[in-house]
Amino acid sequence: MKALYPGSFDPITNGHVDVIKRITRIYDDLIIAVLSNQDKTVYIPLQDRVKLIRQSLKGMKNISIETFSGLTVDYAKSKNVDVIIRGLRAPSDFEYELEMSQINYFLSKGLETIFIMTNPKFSFIRSSRIKEVAILGGNVKEFVPLPVYKYLYQKIRKRPNM
Ligand code: PNS
Repeated sequence: MKALYPGSFDPITNGHVDVIKRITRIYDDLIIAVLSNQDKTVYIPLQDRVKLIRQSLKGMKNISIETFSGLTVDYAKSKNVDVIIRGLRAPSDFEYELEMSQINYFLSKGLETIFIMTNPKFSFIRSSRIKEVAILGGNVKEFVPLPVYKYLYQKIRKRPNM
């Protein structure tokens, strides 16, 4: 079975990596799909986000990293995926995810979204918070893969507080 894990990945975090590892234990193939046409402003350019995902998942098998625009369900159909996967960190994610999975189910006439509950160790990690903390000089080393950590502080041109 083939799974699709769509998202902004701005940037990929340890929470995403945890979900990805767990998906690959269940499904034979995984496409990580990075959204390119976004209304919300992104901090990291698309090709850099893809490169950071690739570097962060080095050595992992049966994963392809792609970019997509338009509807997730149309992309899922074009790739013949069996399920969409999303991570759920906390009850606060639920409303947004419920709505998204229901509209996707409706639009696709039956494509299921399967949720992976984030490891509690990562439940407070979200990309937007990571960027905020890093930009303000906090240290996010524990929360992101090493390539992302290096990229962020290079972009910010500041060393994190220790
Ligand atoms: O990582 P994110 O930002 O929570 O991911 C959100 C994403 C990319 C999965 C969502 O915005 C999405 O599917 N966008 C594509 C447009 C779409 O299909 N919209 C209808 C369903 S909400």
